[in-house]
Amino acid sequence: MISLLKHSSRLAQHALNLKRNIACLAALPETHQMLQKTVRDFADNELIPKAAKFDREHLYPAEEIKKMGELGLMAVAVPEEYGGTGLDTLAYAIAMEEISRGCASAGVIMSVNNSLYLGPILAFGNEKQKKEYIEPFTTGEKIGFFALSEPGNGSDAGAASTTAVLKGDRYVLNGTKAWITNGFEAESGVVIATTSKALKHKGISAFIVSKDLKGFTVGKKEDKLGIRGSSTCQLIFEDCEIPKENLLGEEGYGFKIAMKGLDGGRIGIAGQALGIAQASLELAVDYSNKRTAFGKPISKLQIIQQKIADMASSVESARLLTWRSAWLKDNGKPFTKEAAMAKLAASEAATFCSHQAIQVLGGMGYVSDMAAERHYRDARITEIYEGTSEIQKLVIAGSVLKELSV
Ligand code: CAA
Repeated sequence: MISLLKHSSRLAQHALNLKRNIACLAALPETHQMLQKTVRDFADNELIPKAAKFDREHLYPAEEIKKMGELGLMAVAVPEEYGGTGLDTLAYAIAMEEISRGCASAGVIMSVNNSLYLGPILAFGNEKQKKEYIEPFTTGEKIGFFALSEPGNGSDAGAASTTAVLKGDRYVLNGTKAWITNGFEAESGVVIATTSKALKHKGISAFIVSKDLKGFTVGKKEDKLGIRGSSTCQLIFEDCEIPKENLLGEEGYGFKIAMKGLDGGRIGIAGQALGIAQASLELAVDYSNKRTAFGKPISKLQIIQQKIADMASSVESARLLTWRSAWLKDNGKPFTKEAAMAKLAASEAATFCSHQAIQVLGGMGYVSDMAAERHYRDARITEIYEGTSEIQKLVIAGSVLKELSV
């Protein structure tokens, strides 16, 4: 009897370990479930009622971003010692989905601040940089940007034509960055520039650059198809002098800083895409239950049920990939391929679900009275920024070929 109890206790322990290991696949840990509910309630009450206005008027959701800061969403995985919330990447992915389900613009503002601004400074900054450039950006009062793309290069991240030349105790920055999320409102950012053209990607460096520096101007603010509540701008550097101590990491390490930042960023954008997909699915279900045709709610029609099934399956499979990539990152395992898979699948799910939602809603999906057309427009960018779907496939294929070729 005793040995049976011992055995069952060992089994229970084994089951517990197994449960911990697959927590992100079966059921979320309690903290994450609480976070999910809190952020969902916030999105229902504070974002969904206003998202159409932000979109229509190209309006930055300043008050809502501050409230997200108060909830700890602007620095989810930053340790508490630097003013962050001290949670993990899984929590971040979940929060990104819930925020973006309410407003995809708020989602990308949050994502860039968390993954592409705070992420690289946390990973590569020295103590002084962390103290100065992290804490003020955790509350939603100030936000950050990440400047890699240029008018002449986006996918070819190693071809930066913006230059940084060391002169005494300053780097002098010259060039133009393009498509920079948060560019208009941000106070500071991470800028990728070439310090030695001859060394190609090994001659690229990363800098922390404040908006108030002389020679730094914000250029054209883009008028976009979607995520219209977030700004996308050109940033222009003309003999902009940056203190030498604002070099992030070592000189020549900027390409790797950018790539590692983007690995994490792709989990955030996968979360954003999931939120858009989930919102589209919920809208399609709600509408199909209310709208009658042929004498019954259209949700009783098999052709509509097929759409609901396809949408739900694409969201769920992309969500599992996203949570898995977050779990790998949290456990210190390689996750470049998995983050690329998550972003690829989730952005395809967002495009697919938002398209299908319009199909279910018919004419009502095509007018701006309902959110379906906004989701459709918002979804499109998730296949483009932080690496196009074509780039994600390059990354995935590169890893798979390495793993499986003998
Ligand atoms: N992590 C760490 N190191 C990496 C890496 C990663 N994920 N990927 C590549 N590297 C390293 C390689 O190991 C290699 O190092 P060594 O020289 O020491 O061997 C070096 O970087 C060069 O690697 P590659 O030869 O593979 O590099 P590449 O020039 O062929 O580029 C690429 C690879 C995947 C196409 C890359 O350029 C890329 O990801 N491009 C897309 C860029 C992108 O996502 N842009 C989006 C802009 S930001 C944005 O959208 C933000 C926003 O506002 C929302």
